Amino acid sequence: MRTSQPQTIYLSDYKVPAYLVDTVDLRFELFEDGARVHSTLAIRRNPDSQESAPPLELDGDSLVLESVALDGTALSESDYENRGEQLVIRSVPERFSLSVVTWIEPQNNTRLEGLYKSSGMFCTQCEAEGFRCITFFPDRPDVMARFRTRIEADQKAYPVLLSNGNDVDRGELDDGRHFMTWEDPFPKPCYLFALVAGDLVEKRDTFTTCSGRDIDLRMYVEPRNAEKCDHAMDSLKRSMRWDEEVYGREYDLDIFMIVAVDDFNMGAMENKGLNIFNSSCVLASQETATDMAFQRIEAIVAHEYFHNWSGNRVTCRDWFQLSLKEGFTVFRDSQFSADMGSPTVKRIEDVTLLRTAQFAEDGGPMAHPVRPASYMEISNFYTLTIYEKGAEVVRMIHTLLGPELFRKGSDLYFQRHDGQAVTTDDFVRAMEDASGRDLSQFRLWYEQAGTPMLTVSDEFDEGQGVYRLTIEQTIPDTPGQTNKKPQHIPFALGLLGSDGQPLPLRLASDEAEAPTERVLELTEGVHTFEFHDIPSEPVPSLLRHFSAPVRVRYPWTREQLLFLMNHDPDGFNRWDAGQRLAVDVIQRLIGSPDDAAIDPRLVEAYRKLITDTDLDQALVAKMLQLPSEAYLIELAESADVPAIHRARERVLEHLAEALRDDLVACYQRQQETGPYEVTPAAIARRSLRNTALGWLLMINDDEGRALAVRQLNEADNMTDRMGALRALVNSDYEADRRQALDDFYDRFRDDPQVVEQWFSVQAASDRAGQLSDIEQLLAHPAFDWKNPNKIRSVIGSFAGQNLAAFHNPDGSGYRFLADQVCRLDDSNPQIAARLVTPLTRWRKFAPAYSSQMQSALERIRDKDGLSRDVYEVVHKSLA
Ligand code: PHE
Ligand code: ZN
Repeated sequence: MRTSQPQTIYLSDYKVPAYLVDTVDLRFELFEDGARVHSTLAIRRNPDSQESAPPLELDGDSLVLESVALDGTALSESDYENRGEQLVIRSVPERFSLSVVTWIEPQNNTRLEGLYKSSGMFCTQCEAEGFRCITFFPDRPDVMARFRTRIEADQKAYPVLLSNGNDVDRGELDDGRHFMTWEDPFPKPCYLFALVAGDLVEKRDTFTTCSGRDIDLRMYVEPRNAEKCDHAMDSLKRSMRWDEEVYGREYDLDIFMIVAVDDFNMGAMENKGLNIFNSSCVLASQETATDMAFQRIEAIVAHEYFHNWSGNRVTCRDWFQLSLKEGFTVFRDSQFSADMGSPTVKRIEDVTLLRTAQFAEDGGPMAHPVRPASYMEISNFYTLTIYEKGAEVVRMIHTLLGPELFRKGSDLYFQRHDGQAVTTDDFVRAMEDASGRDLSQFRLWYEQAGTPMLTVSDEFDEGQGVYRLTIEQTIPDTPGQTNKKPQHIPFALGLLGSDGQPLPLRLASDEAEAPTERVLELTEGVHTFEFHDIPSEPVPSLLRHFSAPVRVRYPWTREQLLFLMNHDPDGFNRWDAGQRLAVDVIQRLIGSPDDAAIDPRLVEAYRKLITDTDLDQALVAKMLQLPSEAYLIELAESADVPAIHRARERVLEHLAEALRDDLVACYQRQQETGPYEVTPAAIARRSLRNTALGWLLMINDDEGRALAVRQLNEADNMTDRMGALRALVNSDYEADRRQALDDFYDRFRDDPQVVEQWFSVQAASDRAGQLSDIEQLLAHPAFDWKNPNKIRSVIGSFAGQNLAAFHNPDGSGYRFLADQVCRLDDSNPQIAARLVTPLTRWRKFAPAYSSQMQSALERIRDKDGLSRDVYEVVHKSLA
């Protein structure tokens, strides 16, 4: 717990470590009332350190120190200083061994950092700074050591004992106890350390690498989850193959293990050879997981696996470099998912997340560069900017270099820095050295926060057949950063002729063969490009594939957007044109009278999507999703959420009424005939059906209601079951809703992952998730204040998705969230700090809302003994 005001840590203060650790020898004695940790470190002075005879400083957090010995001789309390968060030894030799014994209480660890217990098993989470909760250590990623770990525990309660690397020894001890010893041959930072002890079942498979080595693949889960491992195991094998083929990366240990735990702050963790997953991000079966969950699991398994190279073999020098591993690895997993399914759909999903949530972050009080310059609590910096914008930055390098040179660059990066802890700058330099390109201006993407705005204007000179495009770039101010320099932006575009055909893009009048798509490189405040031999006024297709994480302002007409929806050869921009059109229609309706007209062309465009079976159904399924409330808020100057919600609902209802018969026909047509499959085509089918169902229930259609009830009873998979449940929950058929929710709970009450979905579908619904309902969910026997997934599924879904209820004009939603944050701040500060996010955006909202949001933040600020995590978020938000 914090005793003084939290300190800010600056990148500019970085110093190499004074001491290095070559080997770590750990012995864990695990008991029900605590754990004793024996650690022996082989330490030596760092030859690169300038300091002469510096003190040895080791990090610690919530540790009871039992003993310290230097080169085998016990130290007395006058030889060292135990400051709680640091163990300091003033004078030490050049090279020595240090043995420390600490006592910790995993059973009382509710922060879920370090060693803790989850459903009876011991597990660890050490990133970013959890290892210091286990023993005293230089807890920073540029100290890399070889680990040997012996675990001792009761044999009956904890038959499975795991750590990183290979198992080298095992045996029985007195009193029904046993031990197992693990050795990891690869030096690693302590944040990649992991330990698991529990009564788990093992699922095995093998993978033969490109060089012919057989890898043992093992999953460890609680016995009741034994049947939910296949999808993750298959995803793992696909990831291993893909990383060999696309990046030339082979797995490097003989064993690869995955463990599922129910209580976990994040999604999953890439500990060397022993990945630990939040159960909800790894366990799946047809009956219990939706298509979205299947896809998320595949992506996360791949992400953690890919970290073995981008993160573990080559790691971060310090936590300011977090995006070095996260941005690159998200880029890699998104390429993988694109290759496994539909690239266009994957791009649409990534951009949707980026434009709604990351743009909001980048425009708010917590805005920070992809490589931040300072932080108070590093846990607060596992952000959409580090992950998603960081991935976009790597994607832009890929676009600028092309796939071959990019691969040369990644090969050079892995070869040059294998076994090292490096910086984002080292990554960019490898890309430069391999390609011969100058990325010095490009580096600003790592240093400047804020989403660039591109303002595009055009003119057509009919006499000369010249089309002129002018693009102006501005980057908004963000906390601590003003007057930004222009960035290097790859801008992909095409031009469509009046017949819908792509036009050759001739930048000089004598250019013979011109492509129909180009990537323009913007490096200055303003650029004008001239395209020659253009026969008639073209329609521009701008920022294709979303080639850079920027906003584009261009005076689109609705005719142009409809034209692009139909003709753009870039599927992403076809979708985007539809989104812009829908945004325009909804925005025009906000605050206008209830009988205000809705553009009939929107209805006809949607009718075409629903009825034209020649279209790519996966893309159609995406195009039918109206822009979310969160995105509409992001686009608003001063958001009135209930008004946005009403306007969006009116458009939905209008579409559903006008297209009612087409929706029923679409639903019937998409009826499943064969067995359940998770392929892009089958996913699109289910998505279309469930969208049609949802729309029919929005307008209280009795046939829709009958279809939903039948689907709920007959579904053989969770996607269809959840689709029907969600449709009923969001309808006015109150009796059916209650019945459906009760039946669903009775059927799945013993499955925590499904109960979480059940909580979430209610908490996110404006019908079933009013504040009084939320309070009931918190009092439900299945709710658990110690389980982050339950907290997210109720409180997170309410504040993050049920926006009209959360932004109740009476301020009750805000006060509720502030109360929950204060309550959680003591038990789990990481989760508490994340829950604050919706309030941090207070300046985005109309005054009646923002003032009450501000008061809610102040209420949190005034809590006694606020954690460093919540302190940072709240103080920065109010600044
Ligand atoms: N490094 C993990 C990932 O992205 C995320 C994580 C961070 C997990 C911190 C736990 C704690 O793959
Ligand atoms: Zn990651």
